Amino acid sequence: MIFGRGFDRVCGCTFRFDDPDAENLNFMVKMAALKKKELCVKRYMGERPERRQAQRQQEERGMRQGYPSKEEAEKILQEAESCNPGPWGAHSRCVAECAERIAAACGNMDMEKAYVLGLLHDIGRKFGARHLGHVYDGWKYMEWMGCPEAGRICLSHSFVCQSLELYIGKFDILPEQEKELREALEKLEYDDYDRLIQLCDAIGTAEGVAAMEDRMQDVRRRYGNYPEEKWKRNLALREYFEERMGRDLYSLLGEQEITRQNAN
Ligand SMILES: [Fe+2]
Repeated sequence: MIFGRGFDRVCGCTFRFDDPDAENLNFMVKMAALKKKELCVKRYMGERPERRQAQRQQEERGMRQGYPSKEEAEKILQEAESCNPGPWGAHSRCVAECAERIAAACGNMDMEKAYVLGLLHDIGRKFGARHLGHVYDGWKYMEWMGCPEAGRICLSHSFVCQSLELYIGKFDILPEQEKELREALEKLEYDDYDRLIQLCDAIGTAEGVAAMEDRMQDVRRRYGNYPEEKWKRNLALREYFEERMGRDLYSLLGEQEITRQNAN
């Protein structure tokens, strides 16, 4: 028999009462309360079959649609930022917010998909500060996570012109990786989500939305060139979405427009 002492820390044991009397009542009440609490925690913290089923369905939905939920994507980005901290995280969030708002204004695009794909487009930066390497790493990482749609955007976002030759930056990947990347890029048939993230990547900075021409000028200054074809293609992308939305891009993204306001 156990009586009275230290029972606050006792749980999950079996007690036997021989000839219980009134003095044992407090002990029995306390043990019943502890057992009740234990059952409640088990019931609401993951041991309910319907909860497990809902989680499984959500995971399967993510796999089926090829990209994670908004919450899951945010967790993936946060974890990646902790591996390689930098302004790319804030830039990714800006791209995601722009993509979500443009998708909403277009009317027939999925806002959550746009947001998630924007949030994860630079996820390859988790593995370090690389140029073409971040495209390859992001593509492979998302495919490995079972999110091929997000991986596709990691691949396509840097190629507004669908050509590896027009990439601005270092080819810091292995020759066999370059071959793999080139073949995958050639096979892609761009859809509106590829175009949307390319557009948002061209205007989204860590500080907010910038004028596209300023961003391109900045790249030209830093890298020494900016292919004319790419410049025109970016402007055409803006026109394409403005036509779809029936309104000016910067009036939609107005309050985030920092660089453009500074430039005026
Ligand atoms: Fe980006």
